[in-house]
Amino acid sequence: MTDITQLQQELEGQSPRAILKAALAHYDNLAISFSGAEDVALIELAHKLTDRLQVFTLDTGRLHPETYEFIDRVRDHYNLDIEVLFPDAAEVEALVRKKGLFSFYRDGHSECCGIRKVNPLRRKLATLDAWVTGQRRDQSPGTRNHVPVVQLDEAFSTDGHPLIKFNPLANWSSREVWDYLRVSEAPYNKLHEQGFISIGCQPCTRPVLPGQHEREGRWWWEEATRKECGLHADNLITRQ
Ligand code: ADX
Ligand code: SF4
Repeated sequence: MTDITQLQQELEGQSPRAILKAALAHYDNLAISFSGAEDVALIELAHKLTDRLQVFTLDTGRLHPETYEFIDRVRDHYNLDIEVLFPDAAEVEALVRKKGLFSFYRDGHSECCGIRKVNPLRRKLATLDAWVTGQRRDQSPGTRNHVPVVQLDEAFSTDGHPLIKFNPLANWSSREVWDYLRVSEAPYNKLHEQGFISIGCQPCTRPVLPGQHEREGRWWWEEATRKECGLHADNLITRQ
């Protein structure tokens, strides 16, 4: 079994490409979790390293039309069978029936995110040995400052099934991601042309003004230290 502490030490100062290469060398059953610009940078890097790339995305049912169009453009551009995961219909129906379609503005986003994102993610992660995310340290003040390039995912590992999480872009800035995307002529979400930086679900995302942190466009009615939807709950568990 791979020693994660040792791998962490080996990979900490390495490039995103070197981290992805190590991830693919250590884990056959690994997938990229895709939703935004960072993840396209990962796909652009990884598709040159392997011809068996697994990519999945969580369709919450509340994404912008531009995001759906972007997902399909990425699919065509890289000729990838992107796996689109949906929430459990009965769980969504029960929530909406009880609380309506916008309960997150009243009592916080965790219940809706739990049903629409985290539960489908948990089902998918149970089939994998490792996953790769586009998290960056400077992406979310207070929750992502310490994201390591590789870690044991304490939120989604279960007894007898350790799950490893790679964050190859942990040390990259948004600027580095976008420089790389431009040089690669990679597809991007058209919402970026309208002032959106960090993009999630339509009702919970808004553009930011010049100088505002990108995270301020997400769940803006909640405080910064709670801005994790549960996909990266380990950021709230492990402060390394
Ligand atoms: S979130 O937790 O606040 O929604 P964020 O939008 O910053 O996450 O994205 C960080 C990383 O989480 C992405 O690079 C991607 O790997 C993963 N991610 C976020 N949203 C999704 C999604 N809808 N489907 C798949 N992966 C996602
Ligand atoms: Fe629901 Fe908003 Fe979370 Fe999307 S981001 S799953 S709409 S609370």
